[in-house]
Order: sequence, then C-alpha cells, then structure tokens
Amino acid sequence: MDNVIIIEHPLVQHKISLLRDINTGSKEFRELVSETAMLMCYEATRDLPLKTVEVQTPVAIAKTKVITGRKLAFVPILRAGLGMVDGAVKLVPAAKIGHVGIFRDPETKNAVDYYCKLPFDIAEREVIITDIMLATGSTMTKTVEIVKNAGAKNIKIMCIVACPEGIENVHKAYPDVEIYCGAIDEKLDDRLYIVPGMGDAGDRIFGTK
Ligand code: URA
Repeated sequence: MDNVIIIEHPLVQHKISLLRDINTGSKEFRELVSETAMLMCYEATRDLPLKTVEVQTPVAIAKTKVITGRKLAFVPILRAGLGMVDGAVKLVPAAKIGHVGIFRDPETKNAVDYYCKLPFDIAEREVIITDIMLATGSTMTKTVEIVKNAGAKNIKIMCIVACPEGIENVHKAYPDVEIYCGAIDEKLDDRLYIVPGMGDAGDRIFGTK
C-alpha cells in the first residue's frame, strides 16, 4: 500500500499486543499508548532535515548535526489522540500542539467538528496528526482538511491500529498523506469498531467505561 508505513519494531508490536488485551487496565493502557507513540514518533520523524554545525566539546570542535528547517506540530484528535501527545513531545519538546475535536453524527454518520485550536504558525510546520484508531477514516479525513485549510503542507498521520477501510478513505481524499501505524487489522464491525482492534480507545485510556 502506498504511503502506509507499518512500524514493525518489536517494541511497538509487543506494546500493541498488551494494548489489545482486555485485561490491561486504564493506567497501563495510558502508559503503553504514550510509549508506543514515542516509538512511532521516532520513525515518523526519520526524514527531518539535518544541517552540520560546529560544537565545542571538552576536547575539540566537533562537526555535528542538528535538525534544521521545518518545525513540528502535533495535532491530536480529541479525545483518544490526546493520549499519544505526551510520548511524542518527550521526543520533540519544541513541537507545538494543536487540538481538533470531532464527533460522528449518529444519524448522518458525517464527521462534525466542534473544536479547533491550532498553532498560529502551523503553515510553516510539519504536522503529525495523532489518533489511536484509524477506523472509518471520516474524522481523520476531516482533520486533514482542517489542518490543510489552516495552511499546513506537510502532514503525516500517526495511529496505533488502522484498518483497510480507514486507510482507503483517507487516501481517497489525500493520497499524499503518509500514514504511520503499528498494525492494519482485518475490518470494521457493524458498530464501526476495528476487528480485532482494542475496543474503544478513548474509554480505555480515560477509564470512562
Ligand atoms: N474508535 C475506537 O476507539 N475503537 C475502534 O475500534 C474504532 C474507533
């Protein structure tokens, strides 16, 4: 699949197995989401440009590299995507954070945005949108639209578990947006849960069920 990167790293795969387990409680679930997001962020930022600088070490001058150019913004989709931010900003502390709140209208099934606060300079930033599950793709597609309309040109998606329907729908609208995920599951069920998935990620992370 074009523009889909599955992060096969053993640590990511192991943590996803723990996340899937029905016996994993909220505290552990939250910690695992954060750790998984940190590891995924490491992969999703592999192509950040570097420049060479000189640094005085205690011994001599070292020609060494630092990240240059584009800065980062993380945009979690409320609410489950929030759980991934903490791990990601541990790796990139200078990143700014925007928030997008979207729900799916139970009757029309359309994605409806109810909250949006983005960094004022988002157009100059590389944006990584986070959500734990990429299910139907409707909230993700809407979020990409919002972020693009705000001027962002470099947008990536980071989700822990995706499914074919979600990937297809996002890429139908935005074929160039790279999707970083830890697993692509089988399908969606009648309630639009990912199968086998990990259940309602928002409920599990915040302990609301
Ligand atoms: N959102 C979730 O939290 N879980 C799913 O399986 C699908 C969407």
